[in-house]
Formats: sequence, structure tokens, C-alpha cells
Amino acid sequence: MISMSAIPLVSGQRLAFDVFTHDECLLLLRGSAIKSAEEAARVQESGYFKQPPGERINVFAAMSALADRLGHIYGDIRERPGTGVFSKRVRSLAGELIQLCDADPDASFASIHLNNLHSYIAVHSMMAAVVCCRLGLASGLNREQRVSLVCAALTHDLGLLDMVDLINSKDMLSDLEMGRIRQHVERGVQLLGSLGVTDMLWLSVVADHHEFLDGSGYAGKRGENLSIGARILALADAYSAMLRPRPYRDRLMARRALEALYSDGLDRYDGHLIETLIWDLGFYPPGSVLRLGTREMAVVIRNSPGILDSPNVACFTDALGRPLLTPVIRDTNDPELCIIEVLDPALASRMGRQIEKCWNGRGPH
Ligand SMILES: [Fe+2]
Ligand SMILES: [Fe+2]
Repeated sequence: MISMSAIPLVSGQRLAFDVFTHDECLLLLRGSAIKSAEEAARVQESGYFKQPPGERINVFAAMSALADRLGHIYGDIRERPGTGVFSKRVRSLAGELIQLCDADPDASFASIHLNNLHSYIAVHSMMAAVVCCRLGLASGLNREQRVSLVCAALTHDLGLLDMVDLINSKDMLSDLEMGRIRQHVERGVQLLGSLGVTDMLWLSVVADHHEFLDGSGYAGKRGENLSIGARILALADAYSAMLRPRPYRDRLMARRALEALYSDGLDRYDGHLIETLIWDLGFYPPGSVLRLGTREMAVVIRNSPGILDSPNVACFTDALGRPLLTPVIRDTNDPELCIIEVLDPALASRMGRQIEKCWNGRGPH
């Protein structure tokens, strides 16, 4: 952990990275505003951040390896691993995912946002896990609670694994089929129990991931009976599902997803968590693909702290759509570089591994 003492801070400034106390409790989340000169002085005196500037972590490669591992864990369930093995494998994966997210939340999210390699359930669960990791940190959960929450996110749809044909169907589902889908929660919890999971937070969050504050969820539980972990996963699950394309609908662009959650979802989801999600990821979360006023295509690298709609981007084509050999970093606060269109993130895949270089080696600036 690095002391904040050398980082210049002024009142009104929004933080570009998470700030912790010396014993690793979250003091302020990235994007939080410094409210006064006194607070700036206090943060500089007692705050710490985690990633040393310039440290090289290939978050894309590491997150892809975690998605591979998750796929293997899902695949091995049929083999009925011995008691404790499943739990140990998921917990170790969750610990590594938290480490990556804390070190570089932008690259961690972007790597999943741009992932076209792994199965729907693996990518959806990894994205839900990344969002849970961030919202868990912002909600003051301790390390152990965050590990349980992330384990729940990684395994929340385990009950759907043998219904892949059904969830990938383009056709309208019958009432009977819908009933089977709704059973995935109960089946998932039973499966986790049979695999030796005894962590009550993990199990209860999976059990409640389709419950809503207004009681309109699968089992009709209401807000007062829903833990903070269950509220976090319900929101992370919905957001993550909206951002992925399905055979029967296109993906929703992130800004539309957030607007839908904010305007239609306040009865269902925790409003404070929605606001935290908006400030943490912005209207164009890392990995979003955009067309700029210059007609260049660009991928979002990170949000400017406190600004929701003018992220820092890397252009990967010129104005005529020809790929650039090396992506060019630009700031969309410049009026000439304004965003004119949101494109499908799959378009960035034409750049292959070139895109990953935009994040590697970046410090918290
Ligand atoms: Fe689910
Ligand atoms: Fe889900």
C-alpha cells in the first residue's frame, strides 16, 4: 500500500482510485468527491492506495485464465468432486478475482466486457462477480464477506448449466419451460449443498438472487428480509445480463441498462447501490466501443473521475475504419472528440490483443 501523502488533492476533486486506511478498510471509493480542504488533508495524512504507478499486470490474460478455470469447475461438477474440493476451487478463484479487481478495476471490467471466447454463463457470472466485488467494497463488506459474495456470483446460475438449450432458445418459452428456468435457484442451492458448500452467506445470496425489494421476485421475499449481499448480486446479475447479447435479443448498451435500472428498477433494486454502480462504471464502462466526432472507432479505457459521459478512450481505427497499428489514447472531454455513436463491443475484437495494451502497465492516474 502506498501513502497518499505525495498525491496532490483539492476540495471538489474526484478520486481516480480507491483509497484505504492503513488496515485496508475502504476510506473512499474511486469517483468519490473530496468535500473540503480538511478532508483532502485528512485523506493525504491517513489514506493509502494499492497499485504502484507503472506496475505491469496483464489483467486481460489473468481474467481470461480465471474464466477458463471457471469453465473447468462447471464442467467437473458432473464428476462429483470430493467434499471440499469444489468449494476450495471456487474460493481460490474468487480471491484472485478480487485481487485483480482491486488492483485495476477498469481493466478487469473491460476484459470481461470484451470477452467473446467463453460460454455465456461463465462470462455472465464473471461480470456479475466483478460488479459484486466493486459494490461489496463500496458497501463496506470485509474481505471474507466479499469472498463469499464473489463465490455466490460465480455460481449463482449453476442450476442453469443443464438447461443450456433452453436458455439459448430463440423461441418463446412455454409456461412449463419458464417454470423449469425459475427452478434454477432452488436447484443451484441444492447442488451447492451436495458439493459440500457450507458457507451460509454464499448459499443465502445464491438463494435470494432473484428476489426484489418490492417482493416481486421468485419467492416473494421483501427488502427487509434481503441481505446487502443478496441486494448486490440481484443488481449485478441484472446489469450483467443486460450487457450480454442473447439469441432472442441484442445486448443493451450500458447507458440504456443503467437508465432502465434507475427509472424502472428503483422499486426492485437498492437505489444507493444503483448510484454507486453508475458512479463507479459511468455511462460508458471500460470496454465500451464508441464512434467519435472524428469518425474514429475507440474503446473506453477508463472514466474520468466524477464525469459520467466523457471517458478516456483508445482509438483503434482511423476515420475511414482502417485499423491503427498502435491504439491512440484520447480524452472525449475535447469537443472535437465527442461521442456520436455507441457500437457493439464485439467490433473491438478485430484488433485482437492490441487492445489489451491500452490497459497493461497503467497506474492509478
Ligand atoms: Fe439466476
Ligand atoms: Fe444470472
